[in-house]
Amino acid sequence: MHEKKNEITRVDKMKIAVIGTGYVGLIQSVGLAKIGFDVFGIDIDENKIKMLNSGKIPIWEKDVEELLKKYNGKNLKFTTDFNAIKECDAVFICVGTPQSDDGTADLKYLFSAVESVKPYLKKNAVVVIKSTVPVGTNRKVKELLKECKCDVVSNPEFLKEGSAIKDFFNTDRIVLGFEDKTKHEARDRLMNIYEYFYNKKTKFIITNWESAELIKYASNSFLAVKISFMNELSHLCNCIGADITEVAKGMGCDKRIGEHFLNAGLGYGGSCFPKDVNALMKQFCQNDMEAKIITAADNVNSELPDVFFNRVSKRLKNLEGKNIACLGVAFKPNTDDLRDSRAVELKHKFLNKKANIKCFDYVGGAMDNAEKIFGDKIKICKTVNETVEGADAIIIATEYDEFNDEDWEYIAELVNEKLIFDGRNILDEKKVKKHGFEYYGVGR
Ligand code: UDX
Repeated sequence: MHEKKNEITRVDKMKIAVIGTGYVGLIQSVGLAKIGFDVFGIDIDENKIKMLNSGKIPIWEKDVEELLKKYNGKNLKFTTDFNAIKECDAVFICVGTPQSDDGTADLKYLFSAVESVKPYLKKNAVVVIKSTVPVGTNRKVKELLKECKCDVVSNPEFLKEGSAIKDFFNTDRIVLGFEDKTKHEARDRLMNIYEYFYNKKTKFIITNWESAELIKYASNSFLAVKISFMNELSHLCNCIGADITEVAKGMGCDKRIGEHFLNAGLGYGGSCFPKDVNALMKQFCQNDMEAKIITAADNVNSELPDVFFNRVSKRLKNLEGKNIACLGVAFKPNTDDLRDSRAVELKHKFLNKKANIKCFDYVGGAMDNAEKIFGDKIKICKTVNETVEGADAIIIATEYDEFNDEDWEYIAELVNEKLIFDGRNILDEKKVKKHGFEYYGVGR
């Protein structure tokens, strides 16, 4: 639903607080600062705040540092002092909701942030929950803030790591969930904040708290189902001579299906999909139901590293002492994030079989994080060429297109065995075969 500019009661010189300077909070802070708001990024972690104030970002994400340098100290300030909230018309809560041991979303950081914000809230301020939270959480937040004269709004984020700034400014949709969507005060405040997006193709979805909360889980879980569906099909392709990449192309031409998120390979990882899929399954359980499709998607995804690893082991026979060149470390390209990374899972499997591992990722931060996990158990290399030298097999674990730009003719001279297992179907099969490589993709 699109709202019209002139229907909105404007708040001039709006000041905004963003609680949490992690992945979501940091992008929200620099994004809103670029749009022109006075933004306070608040975090309890003094080191993070110090780092941000010196112009450095604690994560690896394209374009963020540039924006930070441009606005920091001007209309963007980072602080540990919650007093800044006293001046703010809107407070975005962007703290983590990690997975608990039982699979549910752990809300301790969220509720603690809400309690910390409470004493400082200005009259009529709007508290906006951006963190991914199970259905019913915004209602609980409102209960916690019942003595304050403030509105609570659900506004889930849909940013992808590696392209978060681009996603922020080109978002397909802005979802806003209200206690009462017919009341205009909170709605006007949010529409005012997101006015920048009116003339773009952005759709505004104005709904209630529960629907907004579910839209986030449903979107991530649906995409996870899409990926697992293709991965399941890829197993059949392996047996019947079909090529899953061609099948995906054919399916994707149908606008009802869409061309994205049809890539079979090692499956989904990262900080969101596995956690959100589990949390949604738990929400079904809590309502005495079973999420059959989502559970199946999760099961298919869980077995993929084993399926892939077994194919490599079968071909190499004995892995002990074999040199494995693992290209890609992070859970996806252009990030330093190793959380639930299929590449990391595979490395553990090879190490268990006493193979020697060398690895590479185009993002330096990803390799630093790999070093923290593996120490000297694996060799971290600076280039693809260094990684593949003497390799008995090359494994592609992260879907970097850039691997295609490497010199495969030269790589063919460096390796011990011309053998590639492409866990992401990203390499140009014809090109590597031309240089004598035996190539195994997934479902091709
Ligand atoms: C995801 C959602 O896309 C985003 O909207 C939400 O806000 C956070 O979670 P992100 O975790 O950054 O974003 O990664 P995404 O690009 O969605 O990829 C997730 C995983 O799926 C990666 O491991 C990727 O390798 C895998 N994937 C993706 C596939 O295996 N096949 C595909 O076709 C697409």
